[in-house]
Amino acid sequence: MLTKVVRIDEQHESEVSIREAGEIIKSGGLVAFPTETVYGLGGDALNPASSRKIYEAKGRPSDNPLIVHIADMEALPAIVKSVPETAEELAEAFWPGPLTMILEKSDLVPEETTGGLDTVAVRMPSDAVALSFIRAAGGYVAAPSANRSGRPSPTRASYVAQDMDGRIEMILDGGDATLGLESTIVDLTVEPPTVLRPGFITAEMLRQKLGRVAEDETLLSADSGQAPKAPGMKYRHYAPKGELVIVKGDVEAVTDYINGRLLEGRRDNKKTGVIATDETVACYRTDVPRSVGKRTDAAAAAKGLYRILREFDDEGVELIYSESFDGEGVSLAVMNRLLKAAGHRVIELK
Ligand code: TXA
Ligand code: MG
Repeated sequence: MLTKVVRIDEQHESEVSIREAGEIIKSGGLVAFPTETVYGLGGDALNPASSRKIYEAKGRPSDNPLIVHIADMEALPAIVKSVPETAEELAEAFWPGPLTMILEKSDLVPEETTGGLDTVAVRMPSDAVALSFIRAAGGYVAAPSANRSGRPSPTRASYVAQDMDGRIEMILDGGDATLGLESTIVDLTVEPPTVLRPGFITAEMLRQKLGRVAEDETLLSADSGQAPKAPGMKYRHYAPKGELVIVKGDVEAVTDYINGRLLEGRRDNKKTGVIATDETVACYRTDVPRSVGKRTDAAAAAKGLYRILREFDDEGVELIYSESFDGEGVSLAVMNRLLKAAGHRVIELK
């Protein structure tokens, strides 16, 4: 299959391309599209054959449910059993935007899309290209992140092409994703509502609207003895090809420790990389030093993390050390993804 890549910008051709992308979805094909979080791999959410194709293109197990993307609040009632007041309040406050809500599904949504669950994940993205594309596609676009299973989520079209070239009909190139980390997922079918995946919309922001909101215990732990409630969170995710280890402790101890390990890595003829901050990046003797930005800027870290992981792959880095990013809010989301990328390999310095 030839994958057509079209750049979408202010020019008038965009409208034609978006219409073409919409037709591909309506006839059962797949189109990758930009959102403000990461690029999505879209298919018709109401067509079971499209969802099967998505799993195949991603190389993803089919028990891992997809997010249904909508462009208007009027589209919601048809795909859910009912719209609870909690959903209306969150939509009012955070849609369109980086929030996914889990709701009871209606019969219109095929089990192929929800991985056999009787709930459905729904999100209204804020990216303008995403919204026009969803409307052109008939209003319901099922989309996981547009990476091959196990790879970092793609934050730009060229990364989608690396993973999906020849596997899908079209890629809409809308430039770099503005946020760079997947949406917050909140389960509204349980009491209290529970965050299953942390993101830019923090638990605290949700609490301001809903009162009590729980956070899934498995968000930062390797083995809390509990199965994660978002099925996708159980798979090893976002993994770079090289071995990634996170080092925790105070700055000086961390830089010393990492430099020691880098020296060993060089002796073993391994290409090394480091994930650091603006404050520390110059301290490391490594082949591929990368800064996620200022230590206090969690949003910058969120935006840069997946790009950096892919750059290590492109450079053939075999051994990667990362500083640790502790904290609340968006930092929690960054640390959640970093821990997954590292397969929870963490060294804690005293
Ligand atoms: O920002 C995002 O959410 C991006 C963009 C493209 O919208 N999409 C995304 O999709 O990250 P994906 O498939 O990579 O992650 C969706 C997560 C998976 O962990 C999946 O298990 C979970 O959502 N999920 C989907 N439906 C669910 C459901 N009914 N109940 C619990 N978890 C669900
Ligand atoms: Mg994903």
